[in-house]
Amino acid sequence: MEKNLIIAITGASGALYAHHLLRALAEHIPGKSRVIISPAGLRVCNEEAGTRFQNSEEYLDWILGSLRHQSDPLHSFELEDYRDIGARSASGSNHHDGMAIVPCSMKTLASISHGITQNLVERAADVTLKERRPLVVVPREAPYSLIHLRNMTALTEAGGIVLPASPGFYQKPESLDDLGRFIAARVLSSLGIQVRLFRPWLEESSED
Ligand SMILES: Cc1cc2nc3c(=O)[nH]c(=O)nc-3n(C[C@H](O)[C@H](O)[C@H](O)COP(=O)(O)O)c2cc1C
Repeated sequence: MEKNLIIAITGASGALYAHHLLRALAEHIPGKSRVIISPAGLRVCNEEAGTRFQNSEEYLDWILGSLRHQSDPLHSFELEDYRDIGARSASGSNHHDGMAIVPCSMKTLASISHGITQNLVERAADVTLKERRPLVVVPREAPYSLIHLRNMTALTEAGGIVLPASPGFYQKPESLDDLGRFIAARVLSSLGIQVRLFRPWLEESSED
């Protein structure tokens, strides 16, 4: 079944998780996603990946590579402007199957948990909660202050899912990409989408 999602990338460390999430959608899941990238999200990617993207278009092209402009893609992506609080994702009439914010900064987390909607990421998340659709946030900070923890509690009480950027190591990751795939699969699972991005726990490999 086709999945229509909203994926936001904000300015917390861990851009890699977003890259794997978008690639997993592009490669495995039929449907369509609207993508919103905050200016801080773009900056963090440039810091972490050593890139020099000037805008979200360049960033998304880089993540998806040749998958971005296929004539008949399995999953298509439409960028929305972070500043455009009148974009489709800002409206409850835009039916979708869930929203993920990967990674999610403490600032965006704080805004959502207080009902503040000053940009399209915050507005789309606010609408997703009010429409009782799945909202998954992947926050990253260390350590957490009491304010962060309270905001995560408030978001959970409002129906959101807090999925921390805490990949497991019991599956013996061999690369950063393995860690990225772990979180991407967990995010998709929380949105009701099962996709095999790594070997499930206790499943024997053919080499074992
Ligand atoms: C290199 C870099 C790394 C950052 N890492 C984090 C982080 O891990 N968690 C966080 O909450 N904010 C982090 N920030 C700060 C946020 O980017 C900042 O609060 C920003 O205003 C968030 O805006 P946004 O939520 O609209 O993307 C980082 C900023 C930079 C430049």
